[in-house]
Amino acid sequence: MVCLGNICRSPIAEGILRHKLQEQNIEGVETDSAGTSSYHIGEAPDSRMRQTAIANGVNIDDLQARQFVSSDYDEFDLIYAMDSSNYNNMITLARNKEDKSKVKLILNEVNAGANNAVPDPYYGGDEGFQHVFDLLDVATDIIIEKYVKG
Ligand code: 4NP
Repeated sequence: MVCLGNICRSPIAEGILRHKLQEQNIEGVETDSAGTSSYHIGEAPDSRMRQTAIANGVNIDDLQARQFVSSDYDEFDLIYAMDSSNYNNMITLARNKEDKSKVKLILNEVNAGANNAVPDPYYGGDEGFQHVFDLLDVATDIIIEKYVKG
C-alpha cells in the first residue's frame, strides 16, 4: 500500500487489510506500506488517522513510515497506489515490465478503469479521514475476495 507520506492513506490501507486477514484467520499474506516521498520517514501514522482507525476498530499505532524503494518490487506481488501521482512515481522506479505490472491504482479494484484517487486527507478536516477509511474498507474487501480467497 503506497501513498505520498506513508502517514495517512497507506498505513490505514495496510492496517485495515491486516486487521481483516487476522479476523478471518488468513495466514501467509504479508502486508506492508510505504510512501513515495521521504518527508515522514520513521514517523508513526498521523494522529488523526490513528484516531479514525481506533474509532473503526483498527489499530495502526505500531506502524512507522518508510520510503518506497525499487527493491520492493522483489518483495511484493501486488503494489497499490492511492492516487495517480503515487502510481506514476512508482512506475518511474520500476526496472522492467514485470515491476510495472505489479502496480495498480487501489480504487480501480472498486471501479475498474475509473482511475479514482483516495483523496489526500492531510490538509483537510477530520471527516476526510473517515472518508479515506470507508473507501479503503470497500477496496480491501474486494482485494481479499479476489486475490486471497479467489
Ligand atoms: P499520505 O498524506 O500521503 O496519505 O500519507 C500526506 C502526508 C503528508 C504530506 C502529504 C500527504 N506532506 O506533504 O507532508
